[in-house]
Amino acid sequence: MAEHISWSDDLLVGVEAIDSDHKKLFELMNRLLASPTHGATAVSQAIGDLSSYTKRHFAAEIASMERSAYPERSAHAYEHDHLIFQLENIIDRLMISGADAVDGELSNLLRDWLCNHIMTFDVKYAAFLRESGQTG
Ligand code: FEO
Repeated sequence: MAEHISWSDDLLVGVEAIDSDHKKLFELMNRLLASPTHGATAVSQAIGDLSSYTKRHFAAEIASMERSAYPERSAHAYEHDHLIFQLENIIDRLMISGADAVDGELSNLLRDWLCNHIMTFDVKYAAFLRESGQTG
């Protein structure tokens, strides 16, 4: 599970608070992917950090959408909930059966979230903010 996921500026959406959170999430994801080589405590810590930061980021994004009256916030929130469900499912199996049991699956989910969610949903929200003259 040691595959590193590299940050790319192609993932910038152009809203500072969101981009800054995404970069932090990359750091936490890579810490989790590298954690099995540092033992069970490191895995547990990395899971907790990623999970809580992801939820915090999603909540902050949805709060921003509510403030800016983003018309597609419900669909965006649904995507967040689905991603959290998938992440927690993998984490549960990782905690029960070990990192080898979810080898590749977690990095695929994280990459999928990065590539698809940010580049589709978050970019769209950032464009809405710019077009409506708001900063989030
Ligand atoms: Fe940055 Fe919609 O998550």
